[in-house]
Amino acid sequence: MSKVKNIGLAKEGEKEIRWARENMPILSTIRDEFKKEKPFEGLRIGVTLHLEKKTAVLLEALIAGGASVTASSCNPLTTDDKVAAALSEKMEIFAWAGESNNDYYWCMNKVIESRPDIVIDDGCDLILALHKRGKKVIGGCEETTTGVIRLKAMNGDGKLLFPVFAVNNAYSKYLFDNRFGTGQSTVDAVMRVTNKLIAGKTVVVVGYGWCGRGIANRMRGMGANVVVVETATASGERESGYHRALEALYDGYRVMGIGEASKIGDIFVTATGNKHAIGKNHFKHMKDKAILANAGHFNVEIDVPSLKGMSRRAEDVKDNLTLYEQKDGRKLYLLSEGRLVNLARPSGQGHPIEIMDGSFGLQALCVRHLAEHRNLKTGVYDVPKGIDDRVARLALESQGIRLEKQTKEQERYASSWDEGT
Ligand code: NAI
Repeated sequence: MSKVKNIGLAKEGEKEIRWARENMPILSTIRDEFKKEKPFEGLRIGVTLHLEKKTAVLLEALIAGGASVTASSCNPLTTDDKVAAALSEKMEIFAWAGESNNDYYWCMNKVIESRPDIVIDDGCDLILALHKRGKKVIGGCEETTTGVIRLKAMNGDGKLLFPVFAVNNAYSKYLFDNRFGTGQSTVDAVMRVTNKLIAGKTVVVVGYGWCGRGIANRMRGMGANVVVVETATASGERESGYHRALEALYDGYRVMGIGEASKIGDIFVTATGNKHAIGKNHFKHMKDKAILANAGHFNVEIDVPSLKGMSRRAEDVKDNLTLYEQKDGRKLYLLSEGRLVNLARPSGQGHPIEIMDGSFGLQALCVRHLAEHRNLKTGVYDVPKGIDDRVARLALESQGIRLEKQTKEQERYASSWDEGT
């Protein structure tokens, strides 16, 4: 096992990174500031993110700010080897596409061995590994819903050792990245793997959270008959499965439980952050040639071990497409081993560049905040509103849109309680 080093690959990777860099105006503004002000001078930043071209632009910005960076991937399938090769000319990279489970943790361990001062994580595996070794850092940033849920649980149990920003929970993250980013990139990945027509298919979207809404919306845009599945769960910070099911209904979708939906879907996409959203009892009823994909963070949403167990034959048909032939002859197709379909290489390209420009703009500014506020108490923090607003404003400005400020009179009116008419 060795670090990825290959000059030919690196050149190809550099072209990919350049394309991303030229289309990431928010990060470009931030990188210029970092270059001038060097907020990370002397700091080591440990990163576990999907290592592809947009991530590369974030890592370059951190280096421009004076940091030394060590990075691995947050998923065994999502590294772009070309990009990893190009990056390893500039920083310590431990990642390649198609890592085994052992490789994955070996790479992550290399990040821990670099003794990071600040970490950026996606899914909370790195932060958890640091905790298991009792290692504290100045602070961390977490990119995704599943990671934030794990962090809040750790904090609730009194186990968290340092402050972490829930970057996922910034308005300009989940409104845009989870919804529009996952929406477009999931549809794109399903099409790339299968090369099949979406129009006219019954697409079952399991989970109508931020990601599910985006996927349902974009699938409908491609002409699918979308069915939304939610869960009868009353808990949740604000919204429950009931609210989300009702929202889906009012958005114009058919809504039902997974039992009913499993019989009618041509394509299934999970985005629940939960375990076995599709399982043994559902595979049994699926139509011949049904396609299964997952867009949730971990590969647990589709119960792949049960699917394997109940199949009489499995075959890797082509990249990211596995056939599971059932004992009654039905063929079920699983995309990308049930891992993040929109990121698993080679078909998954990740979110569109403009989306990651915003998400990584948030990451970069939160890392800076941690570097400049080294005595934050342990806890899970919301992204400061100033950072959240700034990223949304920069995104608008990058498209030539400038909003007008409210007049003094309007501001007064909007904040007063006695000025009715
Ligand atoms: P969310 O919390 O907004 O939505 C999840 C929804 O799934 C909720 O409405 C919940 O009621 C529903 N749900 C939970 N268990 C269910 C079950 N068994 N059956 C049906 N519905 C169920 O979360 P969000 O932000 O949409 O994220 C979902 C997952 O996607 C997370 O794992 C997150 O980390 C991941 N994610 C993936 C991205 C990607 O690029 N593929 C991007 C951002 C997030």
